[in-house]
Amino acid sequence: MFSLVVLAAGKGSRMKSERPKLLHLLMGEPLLEYAIEKGGQLDAGQLVVVVGHGREQIMEVFSDRKYSGDKELSWAIQEEQLGTGHAAKVGIDALGDADELETVLIMNGDLPLLRTETLARMLEKHTEANADVTVLTCRKDNPAGFGRILRNEVDGSLSSIVEENDADEEIRAIGEVNVGTYIVRADVFQKCYDATGADNDQGERYLTDVVVEAVRGGLRVESVEVECEAETAQVNSQEELAVAQGLMRERLVVKHLEAGVQIDDPTSAFIEKGARIAAGAKIHPFCVIRKGVAIGSNCEVGPFTHLRPGGLLEDSAKVGNFVEVKNSRLGAGSKTSHLSYIGDGDVGEKVNIGAGTIFANYDGKDKHQVTVKDGAFIGSGTILVAPVTVGKDAMTGAGSVILQNRDVRDGEVVVGVPARPHKKNKGDSGGGGCQD
Ligand code: UD1
Ligand code: CA
Repeated sequence: MFSLVVLAAGKGSRMKSERPKLLHLLMGEPLLEYAIEKGGQLDAGQLVVVVGHGREQIMEVFSDRKYSGDKELSWAIQEEQLGTGHAAKVGIDALGDADELETVLIMNGDLPLLRTETLARMLEKHTEANADVTVLTCRKDNPAGFGRILRNEVDGSLSSIVEENDADEEIRAIGEVNVGTYIVRADVFQKCYDATGADNDQGERYLTDVVVEAVRGGLRVESVEVECEAETAQVNSQEELAVAQGLMRERLVVKHLEAGVQIDDPTSAFIEKGARIAAGAKIHPFCVIRKGVAIGSNCEVGPFTHLRPGGLLEDSAKVGNFVEVKNSRLGAGSKTSHLSYIGDGDVGEKVNIGAGTIFANYDGKDKHQVTVKDGAFIGSGTILVAPVTVGKDAMTGAGSVILQNRDVRDGEVVVGVPARPHKKNKGDSGGGGCQD
């Protein structure tokens, strides 16, 4: 059994943002979510998140978050941001019933690309080697922005970690870096932490110095290398956030492709974490699919479609170019092919929504629902002012405005502004003016 301590108290000043760094979104989820998720996947005995700067906001966002089923997260408060070593100390001190032999996995909170398999491999090696400390490293072509790993020339063992700001030219030329994830036994941490100081460029208690003290004390310090360099993407600045997001975007697209989703242009598909897409669905280029969207099989989306949270496309539904769907169901076989806004809608099966249709869901104060029943035919340029219902197999004429609460009955044809029942003349098509 092990405990996970996530370091999330830093100010993140390099982000130049009011928002706490770990609440910045990466493919739809706050950065911190990626760390908490690991605790669940690895079934950590305890999960402590060390917070400080912006802690009220962070704790609020995660107030309902449990992990590994229904285990509670613990929060440890680092009042002053005195460094990563100090933050880890605060986290380890907060471990509830852990004894001094507890294995603790300490993770910087700004490493969203790190894979659970890598952490599992670290835990395995740590146990097998009976190590006191295990450090995650990576050999990079461009090691800038990371602490460098120094190794003993004779046996190759890790001898030190030097922060970039404290390094000379020779050390900066080293390509192996400290990724920012460590395993340590609680008693070893406490002992080595006490020996660290803050005599460095930042005037902080460095977590890396705890590792250096362990080496000095003759303890067993092991290292594990990440398999894929992308895993080391840390987020200190907006630029790094954009790079990390790009890498995660690619990873998510590949997962969907592997699951049988057809994505015409993997380079432009922006599919947030948590969007569910069934095998057999087709995603055309330039689509934004937000978290919480669900797409059934044989659906067709895009090009240029924005599906927002709460969007549900049932099997074989089609949403075409320049259509935005928010918090709405589109029933099986229904189509909205061009230039429409479908917000807070419940659209039944085999409904055709003509070009330029707008669900006017917001009255300036509240949002209301538009219901369109099975088989209805919504003419081009229709405005449906919510709350309103269009009945089964009903039809609205091109350009009609259906006022709120003026429900259209099953089978009825309405036209005009405001829409009224249409008296059919012989040979009249009903004025639908709809595209397919
Ligand atoms: C750290 C490592 C560096 C490593 C890099 C890669 C140290 C001293 N350096 O540098 O060797 O290459 O990560 O990921 O550890 N935090 C707190 N309290 C604090 C300070 C930081 O909780 O007082 C948290 C931050 O919120 C962040 C994490 O610790 O999640 C790492 O801090 P950060 O400032 O990003 O460290 P780096 O400078 O990147
Ligand atoms: Ca960092």
